[in-house]
Amino acid sequence: MDRLVVEGGQRLSGEIQVSGAKNAALPILVSSLLSPHTCVLENVPDVGDVRTMYQLLGVLGTTTNWDGNRLLIKTEALQTHEAPYSLVSTMRASILVLGPLVARGGEAIVPLPGGCSIGSRPVNLHIDGLRALGAEVCIQRGSIHVKARRLKGTRISMEPSSVTGTENLMMAAVLAKGVTVIDNAAREPEVADLAAFLVKRGARIQGCGTNTITIEGVEVLNDHEHPHKIMADRIEAGTYLIAGAITQGDVTVRLTSPQLLDDLCTMLHATGAKISRKHGSIRVKMDRRASSVDVTTGPSPAFPTDLQAQMTPLLSLANGVSLVTETVFENRLTHVSELRRMGANITTNGNQATITGVDKLSGAPVMASDLRGGAALIIASLAADDKTVISRVYHVDRGYERIEINLKTLGANVRRVKGNNA
Ligand code: UD1
Repeated sequence: MDRLVVEGGQRLSGEIQVSGAKNAALPILVSSLLSPHTCVLENVPDVGDVRTMYQLLGVLGTTTNWDGNRLLIKTEALQTHEAPYSLVSTMRASILVLGPLVARGGEAIVPLPGGCSIGSRPVNLHIDGLRALGAEVCIQRGSIHVKARRLKGTRISMEPSSVTGTENLMMAAVLAKGVTVIDNAAREPEVADLAAFLVKRGARIQGCGTNTITIEGVEVLNDHEHPHKIMADRIEAGTYLIAGAITQGDVTVRLTSPQLLDDLCTMLHATGAKISRKHGSIRVKMDRRASSVDVTTGPSPAFPTDLQAQMTPLLSLANGVSLVTETVFENRLTHVSELRRMGANITTNGNQATITGVDKLSGAPVMASDLRGGAALIIASLAADDKTVISRVYHVDRGYERIEINLKTLGANVRRVKGNNA
């Protein structure tokens, strides 16, 4: 298993290009199951989860042909309607194949993904939604079995709103008979990117970006070979901006829609950073110790849970006391115990963390236990004294393309050690 070795204390400065969003790419790749036509995608990130999705789709009958970040993807015919447990167990987003498999082939068997390090993460909304669309669903031997001749449009209400739940049901409803309305749908921009892609292929979807999405089912999706460019990864961009702030640096990220990070920019501004947003980029410049701020996560348009962990090290070095409240997942503070080992003063109570800023963090051997928690440890290591060795970097590689190369471009002293060699 790879590790990252970081010698902290370098002020990051410079500019980097943000990759395509993993959380938009995954459902868009899966949506290729809905028709036999070739889809052309650009800006597809080369990250662990996307590679796992290629494997899963490959089993189902999809062919992928990629050249850098450009991808030709096609599912001429479904080879099987059963997703293998070995792949589903490594990536929860595999649940996304459920809706498209039923919509295209009338049947799906997908193992229950189970819990993960950030919470129990049920999939009841995916299952209830498919039942509402007329599918027969049962759970047998740990797998969800779904059958439907043709799904029928209906009104579905989500509580709480689920990102992949909305995407799954939206993909299922695209080929259903009649109109489906999803109330309390997720408003994350990645859901809107999936909808935009489906609409290009002839789907009839309205209301994305609001909490009511209306889908008028069509018989088939069209052959549409014009490339779709995956939206920029707002979470990756935010991670580098926070890294710039914690090192009192000057970092610019290039991304087509800077407004995707309005929340984070407001938060960083409140810590004392100077933010300039231009068409196509965001620059963060920090020339003093950060001030404390309170962070409460929530579904879009609230502050994203996927940036909560990365804020924690910045607030650990801030002047004053900050309160971080995680409202989306029940166990998303696992990085805190590792940050404490680096000298952070953090107490937790349920899903709230009280962070009393300290003057310095110290390098230590630490272990990533999830994707964003791993990114938080890297951010902490950039500002820590001495050397930090971060193990289980594969968690980070699931969602960040060439993270150490980007950090080196910005002036960080970081290297990857392959396998078990220290
Ligand atoms: C997606 C993102 C993930 C992000 C999360 C929240 C992808 C591939 N992953 O995950 O990076 O952290 O959104 O923004 O896009 N819930 C239920 N029942 C369900 C489904 C969800 O109760 O059937 C609950 C969850 O436990 C959680 C909340 O709904 O408390 C939101 O989870 P959800 O939006 O579904 O997260 P994911 O789609 O898995």
